[in-house]
Amino acid sequence: MKVLVTGGAGYIGSTICSALVDNGHTPVILDSLITGRVEFTNAHIFYQGDIADRPLLERIFREHPDIYATIHCAALIVVPESVARPYEYYRENVAKSLELFHTLKDLGYGRVVFSSSASIYDVVPDYMVTESAPLRPSSPYARTKYMMEMILKDFSTAYENMQGIALRYFNPIGADPRMRTGIHIKNPSHVLGKLVDVALGRLPAFEITGTAWPTRDGTGIRDYIHVWDLAMAHVQAVEQFPLIFERAPEPRERYVVINLGTGRGVTVRELVNAFENVYGRTINKIEKPPRPGDVAGAYANADTARRLIGWEAKLSIEQGIADALRWGEIREQILHYEAETE
Ligand SMILES: NC(=O)c1ccc[n+]([C@@H]2O[C@H](COP(=O)([O-])OP(=O)(O)OC[C@H]3O[C@@H](n4cnc5c(N)ncnc54)[C@H](O)[C@@H]3O)[C@@H](O)[C@H]2O)c1
Repeated sequence: MKVLVTGGAGYIGSTICSALVDNGHTPVILDSLITGRVEFTNAHIFYQGDIADRPLLERIFREHPDIYATIHCAALIVVPESVARPYEYYRENVAKSLELFHTLKDLGYGRVVFSSSASIYDVVPDYMVTESAPLRPSSPYARTKYMMEMILKDFSTAYENMQGIALRYFNPIGADPRMRTGIHIKNPSHVLGKLVDVALGRLPAFEITGTAWPTRDGTGIRDYIHVWDLAMAHVQAVEQFPLIFERAPEPRERYVVINLGTGRGVTVRELVNAFENVYGRTINKIEKPPRPGDVAGAYANADTARRLIGWEAKLSIEQGIADALRWGEIREQILHYEAETE
């Protein structure tokens, strides 16, 4: 199958492209490189451009009329930046996705798999969220994801040739196990990226922010999912696209939402312990109060993914940590940061 992957030069999109190739499919990348890396596109068909550029999309589908589905990963994704620059986030994520979905509908390529986020959920008492758990997106970034879901849902309901699958990712970790791609931002804000930076001497200490949450050890709880497992869920979602709607609980459903997590909650302290075990040494850590906007967290009820796509996470948190560490060691050779001005 040929699959259009928007944002295919990013962390998750590039891993999805590798998983597609390893399973006999052909990705076609559309990415503006606003944050993504050209190095990640080298092995693939690549169009540099914007998801809202209709003439470019027309050209892509003219040149690849056999594209079966679109996986829409392209977005701006940094939560604090979205607080400071809401206009850019609503424009890049919401307004441009609206145009992308409209173009896909007009051109008759209406099978869409959308990268959504568990950050749209409210906190629930036992921290485990099903797809019908209450939503409360708490940042401009999370609200863009929620709005994009609503657009895809309304388009899928209104337009006969559209069907949408929103995949709500929990906390991706790790890198492609074959080390083709991984996290590319120079100063990662995610917890595992920071742990790797402390271990490799790029940061002085790991800050455990929030130690008085009502969780089993007081630290925040998350659902860390290996990015390769996440990528494989997309491959299976595309391969089984029509079947997913047949298996959906509502007959003739045209839009479905699926959590992508392991189904296991892990606290920050547990993650740090696992990290130290894999790394073989303790690391410097300090305890700090929670940052503004922090929440106790959530983990996935992963039953829907099992039922609708026959997918479940297979790789352990230790494997995710080991792959993140290996990637952390080699990524500068691949990404050539020293040539950049930042
Ligand atoms: N990383 C996470 O923890 C996480 C969690 C939940 C959901 N997601 C979602 O997964 C998707 C991918 O995230 P990621 O971590 O790989 O981010 P990333 O920044 O590595 O990748 C995003 C890619 O989209 C491209 N892009 C952005 N705007 C574009 C536009 N208008 N036109 C064309 N290309 C554009 C960027 O250049 C980049 O390559 C995003 O939609 C994000 O919201 C990520």
